[in-house]
Amino acid sequence: MADWAGFLGATMLWVKAAHIIFVIFLMAGLFMMPRFFVYHHQCAVGSDEDKKWIEREDRLRRIILNPSLTIVWVLGLLLAFNGNYWGETWFIAKFILVFALSGYHGWMIGYFKKLQQGQRPLTEKQLRLLNEVPGVAAAIIVILAVIRP
Ligand code: HEM
Repeated sequence: MADWAGFLGATMLWVKAAHIIFVIFLMAGLFMMPRFFVYHHQCAVGSDEDKKWIEREDRLRRIILNPSLTIVWVLGLLLAFNGNYWGETWFIAKFILVFALSGYHGWMIGYFKKLQQGQRPLTEKQLRLLNEVPGVAAAIIVILAVIRP
């Protein structure tokens, strides 16, 4: 075990609690945004409703999604170095999945920008299907983190 492992000491449990709290905020945002997109799609480009959805999505992105994703990453990496899990299969698998989930977050921000410009590249059905991605990913990530198979 590297000699810096365990550097968080007794604070580690607080860091882990904070990690999970911000994971909850992040997941709430990841579930809400595509729902917002579905409602957004139902109103005409340039209408007052369209502008209201752009405002709501922008606030969700700035106040919930971006800060929680950043905090989850910072705390998660602190925990990873503290536990020195880099050689462990469960952690590598979790890492790949959280990377993919961060990519999903990035895709959502990109889609928001398209909606802002009046584009609607996907259908409502496709958006509803994509909405399943964060739930499935979160279930696997939690099993990997807790059971550590
Ligand atoms: C973004 C990058 C992330 C990194 C680097 C990361 C890293 C870690 C590490 C190393 C631990 C173990 C702490 C320990 O017990 O020593 C942990 C715990 C945990 N993580 Fe993450 N995590 C990340 C994101 C997530 C996400 C997105 C979720 C859920 C969707 C999640 C859910 C959990 C849970 C539930 C635990 C507690 C497991 C337990 O101790 O029983 N993490 N995380």
